[in-house]
Amino acid sequence: MGNALRLGIAGAGFAARFHLENLPEAGVEAVGVTSARAESREAFALEHGLRAFDSVEAMLPEIDVLDICTPPSSHSEYILAAAAAGKHVIVEKPLTGFFGSPEGHTKEQMLAGVVDEARRLRDAVSAAGIQLGYAENFVYAPSVQKEREIVEKTRAQILRLVGEESHNGSHSPVYGIWSIQGGGSLIAKGCHPLGAILYLKRKEGMARLGHPIRPAAVSARTHSITRLPGFEDRGFLRTDYQDTEDYAFIHVVFEDGTVADVTASELVLGGIYDFVEVFANNHRTRCRMSPVQVVDVYNPRHDQFKDLYLVEKISSNEGWIPASPEEGWSLGYGRELRDFFAAIREGRSPESDLDLAIDITLTLYAGYVSADAHGRETAVPHIS
Ligand SMILES: NC(=O)c1ccc[n+]([C@@H]2O[C@H](COP(=O)([O-])OP(=O)(O)OC[C@H]3O[C@@H](n4cnc5c(N)ncnc54)[C@H](O)[C@@H]3O)[C@@H](O)[C@H]2O)c1
Repeated sequence: MGNALRLGIAGAGFAARFHLENLPEAGVEAVGVTSARAESREAFALEHGLRAFDSVEAMLPEIDVLDICTPPSSHSEYILAAAAAGKHVIVEKPLTGFFGSPEGHTKEQMLAGVVDEARRLRDAVSAAGIQLGYAENFVYAPSVQKEREIVEKTRAQILRLVGEESHNGSHSPVYGIWSIQGGGSLIAKGCHPLGAILYLKRKEGMARLGHPIRPAAVSARTHSITRLPGFEDRGFLRTDYQDTEDYAFIHVVFEDGTVADVTASELVLGGIYDFVEVFANNHRTRCRMSPVQVVDVYNPRHDQFKDLYLVEKISSNEGWIPASPEEGWSLGYGRELRDFFAAIREGRSPESDLDLAIDITLTLYAGYVSADAHGRETAVPHIS
């Protein structure tokens, strides 16, 4: 491939895999991978025909775009390294967070730290003149993009939004550890529906008023239900959350007084439960991410289908299954990566950009401050 953009992936786990599976067919060449463990990066490199690098620093000279699919605690360091080398960035969610001990710090200190970090990232990306694609796939889900079109073309006013991302834990062995993830359900799962919601309010503002409508304040609650002394563990739900919440609710008030409510939890069986619903002054839309209800499969006995992939994070293939034949499409992964590479080529910001990523992250950390005060209304800081 002559002028193909050379992509290097940091991380060789779940997200790295679905990024590779959804790369555009033309114009991009995945050349390298690095990860924390030599055997995982070498196995991943062998499987996908890539070169294994010992570190991000060693890979940067060989690539044009760094795709950060590592746990959240390393995102900032790698964004800054790529920016210093003048390389474009794709970064998985959440953008960044507070990765100290949750015991020794107040939530206000965490929020202040994240504000500083967001400024540092914004300044470095802007000084380097690189593009940063924030991999919030909900923004790119076909259902959310259809709603964006409806909002823009009808100049709809969105009055309230509701969204949820819930499923039983994560594939990642380091999920549930604050110092690596920067929090629990609120940040790790709530970021998805909140991302789509903040995006749609931005788009509404641009279409109707010529400026984005941004989050102003939040009230939030977080709970650790699987750590309750009375929780009866039947063995179906993951329970090993070290020091993070497994249930979160955040109420957002926007600058124009309209509202959104997001629920995120680890307490849902039956596969991923992801949606965003929009209540506007001229229409109502329910955007489904999963289940998408494309095909329902009935299997009377699990072992018949044990090697079949039907839908993400379902624990059994027995009974009626809301199979998702094209998750790269319905979850927005393919469209997301196509937009990032087009944005790099065209020298424009992608739909899901650093400004959106910063608003999402600061809204969620304002949520942690609020939850610490049992839901007290808390202002969302803006750094620009
Ligand atoms: N958009 C989505 O739907 C979605 C889904 C899952 C995960 N994610 C995000 O993707 C990222 C990775 O999650 P995952 O589920 O793939 O995790 P994972 O644990 O499956 O994989 C993480 C990989 O990163 C490597 N790694 C860990 N620390 C590293 C470091 N400091 N430097 C280099 N490599 C390091 C590990 O060796 C592993 O290969 C996270 O930010 C997560 O929030 C997004």
